[in-house]
Amino acid sequence: MLDPTQFTSAMRKAATPVSIVTTSGEHGPHGATVSAVCSLTAAPPAVLICINKNSRILGMIEEHGVYCVNYIAQSHDQLALAFAGVPDLADQRNFGSDHWTIDPQTSLPVLSNAAAIFTCLHIQTVSFGTHRILIGKVERADSTEARPLTYWDGDFRSVADMG
Ligand SMILES: Cc1cc2nc3c(=O)[nH]c(=O)nc-3n(C[C@H](O)[C@H](O)[C@H](O)COP(=O)(O)O)c2cc1C
Repeated sequence: MLDPTQFTSAMRKAATPVSIVTTSGEHGPHGATVSAVCSLTAAPPAVLICINKNSRILGMIEEHGVYCVNYIAQSHDQLALAFAGVPDLADQRNFGSDHWTIDPQTSLPVLSNAAAIFTCLHIQTVSFGTHRILIGKVERADSTEARPLTYWDGDFRSVADMG
């Protein structure tokens, strides 16, 4: 079997967009930074997201049945670290700041000036190893002119020089 360290070392070089996935329910809104998001099909519009089985947001999404994928823009690096659980930034892991509005229809937190935003209905969970693959039917898709921020080689990197 391939050494997992070899796998993660090579995977660090695969640049990914970064999102903050949000959900909301009887215990209030919650969010987590997630880079493993992928377009699944255009018809019907669907995405998949991969979530560690120990993440709190997994059960919340399954319980609430609806979530929002907010692709972060260049100004959101600290916010993404906060929603990844970095202790020093814990005070930013809430939805009270100017970064967030609450969608009155879904009660989901929506990130202001996100590069793209997808509102999803949870359809199915697939288990594999340490992670769960969530398939979501996209009910709404929005985008802005904000440039997305990518993550590669262990850091956030701008795509500003791509023209
Ligand atoms: C750049 C970045 C990308 C991440 N991508 C994922 C991911 O795709 N899936 C995942 O389960 N966790 C990912 N994480 C880790 C979660 O954000 C972190 O475990 C978070 O604390 C989970 O929160 P929760 O337990 O409240 O759900 C990522 C963290 C960072 C910094």
